Amino acid sequence: MKLEIFDNYEELSLHAAKEIISIVHQKPNAVFCLATGDSPKLTYTLLANEARESGVDFSKAYFIGLDEWVGVPPTNPGSCHYYLTRNVFQPLGIDVTHIHLFNALSENLQNECQSMDKTIRNLGGIDLMLVGIGMNGHVGFNEPGISPDLYSHVINLDEVTQTVGQKYFNETMVLKQGITLGLKHFLESKVALLVANGEKKAGIIKRALEETISETLPAIFIRKHANGKVFVDSAALGQKQPEATL
Ligand code: F6R
Repeated sequence: MKLEIFDNYEELSLHAAKEIISIVHQKPNAVFCLATGDSPKLTYTLLANEARESGVDFSKAYFIGLDEWVGVPPTNPGSCHYYLTRNVFQPLGIDVTHIHLFNALSENLQNECQSMDKTIRNLGGIDLMLVGIGMNGHVGFNEPGISPDLYSHVINLDEVTQTVGQKYFNETMVLKQGITLGLKHFLESKVALLVANGEKKAGIIKRALEETISETLPAIFIRKHANGKVFVDSAALGQKQPEATL
């Protein structure tokens, strides 16, 4: 695993965007799995700007959804579906036939999981998985205690995730379950990139970098990834920003 430390969130996001662009340059039909959340938001804005200004072509690339809140419709602005559509798919002009997201309203969520796993296999695996880290160390909705041997699955959300997850919604939501790719997908992706910024992530990042690898901290498995990268800003490493000089 490679750790890269950036002075600030902007630098981190720029490098993450460049990482995505370099992959699509090497492999125009690359398969991307992108997290939602606050951490990668600026990455997606910079990615869209760069794609527009430099004419980077994403039309052959494929996009896999990392996770979704069970029972939340894609029209809800707090859903992962809505977020990815607004922040990634629309700005990059991705055709719907190249987008594979979980239907979290399905009456048969097990089928959803199986069909997602099959889609990923048929596409030849995930080239880049870009993830954030939850305050409890989750990746996607792989909550503390989850086995690293699982592919897509439905999971009861940890209390931390249920509480923190409220930030995505305009109204109070009951967030009991999630549907998610598994850590097995994460470990099998050709590149795994974890991004974390800000002081509030310092505690969990320290644990992910230093603790003994175990299921209690799902994000820690990035240290087992052959091509795992962790991009943090100095605040997420618990380092104070240098005072600006006048
Ligand atoms: C979102 C996701 C979550 C977030 C994590 C960090 O699709 O899978 O695991 O990446 O909760 O969220 P932020 O970046 O908002 O701190």
